[in-house]
Amino acid sequence: MIISDVVVGLQHGDEGKGKVTYDLLKNNPYHYSIRYNGGPNAGHTIYIDSNTQIVLHQIPIGILLEKPSIIGTGCVIDINKLEEEIIYLENKGFKHVRENLLISHNAHIIQSVHIQIDKAKNNVGTTGCGIGPCYVDKYDRKGVRVLDKLELFKQLHLTVISVPEYFSLLNNYHFQILFEGAQGFSIDIDWGDYPFCTSSSCVSGAVSNCGIPASTIRNVYGCCKLYDTYVGSKIFQPDNDPYLEQLGIIGKESGATTGRKRQCNWLNLVDLKKSIIVNGCTHIIFNKCDIFQQIKMNKLLNSSDESLSYTYEPKHLKSFEFKDFELFKKYIIGQLSNISLTNTFISFQFSSSPYKI
Ligand code: IMP
Ligand code: MG
Repeated sequence: MIISDVVVGLQHGDEGKGKVTYDLLKNNPYHYSIRYNGGPNAGHTIYIDSNTQIVLHQIPIGILLEKPSIIGTGCVIDINKLEEEIIYLENKGFKHVRENLLISHNAHIIQSVHIQIDKAKNNVGTTGCGIGPCYVDKYDRKGVRVLDKLELFKQLHLTVISVPEYFSLLNNYHFQILFEGAQGFSIDIDWGDYPFCTSSSCVSGAVSNCGIPASTIRNVYGCCKLYDTYVGSKIFQPDNDPYLEQLGIIGKESGATTGRKRQCNWLNLVDLKKSIIVNGCTHIIFNKCDIFQQIKMNKLLNSSDESLSYTYEPKHLKSFEFKDFELFKKYIIGQLSNISLTNTFISFQFSSSPYKI
């Protein structure tokens, strides 16, 4: 029997999924960690402790906790960068990286030509990792898959598996899997602001592309920030808003993969609501509350032309609970429970389905 939980991004990526995934894996009895979409375009930053920062691009976060970790079928793999990432982790002292890393046999491989095409024609401001052209070849049925390059994976001492067969062979056991989404709903290939999006499916249901049925999903942890950020070629940050400029600086909003400056905007409730619904979130986690608190102006966007401003100078997140929780409740969601607060994030659990809005 398999139970799956999924961590998804509800905005444009960079919502703190890495941190949430790491915390969930650390504090719950998950047996497997699986990435189900995207490739080296992702940059998941994790602080193991206050001094140790780890940035992962392709390898699932479970590897940091010595859990078997799978790069799933919906992903695209850059083998050279994968090797670099393995060596980076080994040099940082992480053990059994190669033993614990399993690769899905039918994931697709990014080739150098994909990177060249991506860099040559980059109208949407991609990460230049060859993601789009690789998915183009996949859907054009002329891609190269892991099973075509088994020798390369063998040289790296990595195990290639067929996910459904792997779990079927172990079917007397009870497994809990944590799926780690990359990117986010607002840059999803179907639900994002096309064409300013990535090329993979970033929603929770896409875990079934890995060969694990969607019916195994128990919890969907939707991650977002109390403000929004976006990296790419469209204009996202309004001009002349010093508060947004400040958010970018205090929040250190620059890309973990490309180092580009992220554009900032206020949290868009309309988009967030849609994202919560389509992903079927059971939980929602607002990250970077500590950053948001340092800004003297706070706004929420309720539609493209209406914004709700509220000003406060909370001394502690408790004041956030009382003032802003009501705003979120009013505009987004019905029933919430299990509110928990820390210095940096707030998490809620939906006690009734967010579909009933
Ligand atoms: P691509 O995924 O490299 O094709 O880039 C397409 C768009 O998605 C660009 O606007 C990228 O900046 C954005 N993007 C891709 N991956 C991430 C991510 O992990 N975080 C934030 N933005 C991303
Ligand atoms: Mg990131």
